[in-house]
Amino acid sequence: MGHDLVIVANRLPVDRVEQPDGSFDWRPSPGGLVSAIEPVMRAGDGVWIGWPGGTEQDLEPFEADGLSLHPMSMTAEEVEGHYEGFSNGTLWPLYHDLVAKPEFHREWWEQYVAVNQRFADTAAELASEGALVWVQDYQLQLVPQMLRELRPDLRIGFYLHIPFPPAELFQQLPWRRQLLEGLLGADLVGFQLPGGAANFVRLVRQRVGHKTHRDLVYLPDGRTVRAAAFPISIDAAGYEELAQSETVTERAAEIREALGNPSKIFLGVDRLDYTKGIYARLRAYAELLEDGELDVDDAVFVQVAVPSREKVEEYQRLRDEIDRLVGRINGDLGRIGRPAISYLHSSYPREEMAAMYRAADVMVVTPYRDGMNLVAKEYVACRYDEQGALVLSEFAGAADELRQAWLVNPYDINGMKAALLEAFRADGKELGRRMRAMRKTVSSNDVQAWAESFMSELSAVRESHGKSVRP
Ligand code: F6P
Repeated sequence: MGHDLVIVANRLPVDRVEQPDGSFDWRPSPGGLVSAIEPVMRAGDGVWIGWPGGTEQDLEPFEADGLSLHPMSMTAEEVEGHYEGFSNGTLWPLYHDLVAKPEFHREWWEQYVAVNQRFADTAAELASEGALVWVQDYQLQLVPQMLRELRPDLRIGFYLHIPFPPAELFQQLPWRRQLLEGLLGADLVGFQLPGGAANFVRLVRQRVGHKTHRDLVYLPDGRTVRAAAFPISIDAAGYEELAQSETVTERAAEIREALGNPSKIFLGVDRLDYTKGIYARLRAYAELLEDGELDVDDAVFVQVAVPSREKVEEYQRLRDEIDRLVGRINGDLGRIGRPAISYLHSSYPREEMAAMYRAADVMVVTPYRDGMNLVAKEYVACRYDEQGALVLSEFAGAADELRQAWLVNPYDINGMKAALLEAFRADGKELGRRMRAMRKTVSSNDVQAWAESFMSELSAVRESHGKSVRP
């Protein structure tokens, strides 16, 4: 007896973490993927296949918080080659505009292939006849094709949570053709933005040689694959409800108090990742203090940096750089009891995040490149008071929808400074006008709508197989 819905993601929604006393505990995994897929799973009766972190072997399937979870183990070599190596040392920087330099290593690729195959084998075992299998993100781009070979009866969807790069960058990959063919195993390949889908279709035409027409790819075996944009979102109503709760309201007041009741609080919340533009944003803020436009008695910048991929060298370097920068800014510009930046290297539960969003007057989201950025949408969902300013990078997928934010180019420090100041000085009327419009967008395009539209498109592509008329 298999499952009718199978989610295949590199990570489980929970991580297995060792406690100081040597026992093990489960803790929510970081990142946007998990927060988006979890509500989808709750709505159905599916199973989630993923890695719980670490190198523990032979983990048994289990239930956590009402979800059926099927843990996949990885050896130390696989973690290094598949996860830290090919996924996060090759694909991540390549797909994010080369913000860091991607490394190409054949041993990493071999581990990537092996891990993808094991995930595909497990999905093939757990899926019922004709089931829907939804494969997630860049760590598993070979799974659709591998799975189709094992189980042609399945409906297979793939969703890429990060940007899909233009051909000019993608073609650096020594394994570009294998990745494209891997994705073509799906019936529907979803991207955050139309540009990503168009990049993919163009590459398939140029590199694999299949016929394409608009968002459709025609395979020699008669199958049609559709590539389209499905901008991801959040559980907007859930966040709003949380933000309105008494505990979050009280906690928001406590946070302001603990920060010394400044007149304005700036907030940044990111995984500690070099794509997020944390360094440039803090520099811009510090310059505003230096210029005398802002004062530490008046304002504070709270930066939450969630620990991430800590074994990857680029991430270690970034952490040192941010530590040094924050130390220097606070040393030069802070006063007793009044740091310029309140820096927190930690992850927090949803309630605490909602309280921070409510306490923050200016939310600063300035990635160099980001698939979507759900933090921006979470902030909007929590501001049921229709106040608070969002400063948002043009290069985050969210900027396509949240047009009323203060949009910035994160490479332009002066432009960022100007936007931070404008957002800081905006009056309640201006804030209300912008926030109302953004809230409308976020509440009408929530994560449920996202999942439903992907699922219904997936059924439509599958049903049209064989009926399509070739151009
Ligand atoms: O959303 C992008 C993403 O890479 C997810 O695939 C991932 O689960 C999340 O960010 C967090 O990263 P990681 O799994 O490497 O901790």
